[in-house]
Amino acid sequence: MIKAGIIGGSGYTGGELIRILLNHPATEIDFVYSTTRAGKRVTTAHPDLLGVTDLEFTGNINLNVDVVFLCLGHGNSTAFLKEHDFSSDTKIIDLSNDFRLHKDADFDGKKFIYGLPELFKKEIENAQYIANPGCFATAIQLALLPLAKANLLENEVHINAVTGSTGAGVSPSATSHFSWRNNNVSWYKPFTHQHLGEINESIHSLQENSGNLFFMPNRGNFTRGILATSYTKFEGELADAEKIYHAFYKNAVFTQISEEPINLKQVVNTNQCHVHLHKHDDILLITSAIDNLIKGASGQAVQNMNLIFGLEEDLGLNLKAGVF
Ligand SMILES: NC(=O)c1ccc[n+]([C@@H]2O[C@H](COP(=O)([O-])OP(=O)(O)OC[C@H]3O[C@@H](n4cnc5c(N)ncnc54)[C@H](OP(=O)(O)O)[C@@H]3O)[C@@H](O)[C@H]2O)c1
Repeated sequence: MIKAGIIGGSGYTGGELIRILLNHPATEIDFVYSTTRAGKRVTTAHPDLLGVTDLEFTGNINLNVDVVFLCLGHGNSTAFLKEHDFSSDTKIIDLSNDFRLHKDADFDGKKFIYGLPELFKKEIENAQYIANPGCFATAIQLALLPLAKANLLENEVHINAVTGSTGAGVSPSATSHFSWRNNNVSWYKPFTHQHLGEINESIHSLQENSGNLFFMPNRGNFTRGILATSYTKFEGELADAEKIYHAFYKNAVFTQISEEPINLKQVVNTNQCHVHLHKHDDILLITSAIDNLIKGASGQAVQNMNLIFGLEEDLGLNLKAGVF
């Protein structure tokens, strides 16, 4: 059994990791570290696990675990690793954006690999340190990478994506307050969202001269999931685009091309990304949908763990969508 540690286990992605790993047949949770809840049951933060686990949060860290997941806010992973020297055998999977960009990928002798299995599967299989992609970044890259691989992303791309409130983490804020968020929609960080950096780096690894990305992130009044619509000029027929996407994802376990228009609920609670293509005049519209906490975070982290440890890529990740 793989011994796993979770740092930041009382947060949203930490909670999802606990839920997934409790049902993972090749992993046992060694510890769930918390700065605020040491000694308390995990169910104090995640009451849905009542009757499922008696685990308690701890203030102690086992530096010799086989794998540790860092579920901390941006900047905190770097600080945490400076203070905690894990065994040289421990694999580290970081969910923040601390190590995602090329300029940050070498940290203290550790080389972090960008953990998007649809693009870097071989590198992940040989990695010890993973920078797990961002949630918007996952949905948008999976929509655009096939076109970049075919060198067809030369024109500007317009992207509109809406996320659920869990995307902002467990700490309440003005824009996650129920009274404001419920029955409401709003945009934020127009054209400047921080995930554009990692999206552009992946695209440029396939096509250097790609067109600019114009990204509008939106806050939706639901709790989880991301639906992204991306469109760009595309001279070919719809069937040409479909062929490109099917070829790119022919070995992908968790990215599916849907012939039918897609909706959020078909992927919420799963590690799937569903992608749909639509052609209008010379415009190709690509719709992609994921669960921000699973394919956008903790599920993808476990997918990466499976690849690193030579397990089936989907082990413990055959999850059921909520649907209704
Ligand atoms: N939410 C998403 O959809 C999503 C998707 C992809 C990536 N991410 C990224 O994943 C990371 C975690 O996100 P999240 O939504 O789970 O955040 P979160 O709900 O705010 O949880 C983070 C947890 O980290 C712990 N913590 C806070 N400061 C700490 C520190 N200085 N040292 C150690 N532990 C500390 C806290 O738990 P304790 O009080 O128990 O210590 C906190 O609950 C972030 O970098 C986020 O950007 C999130």
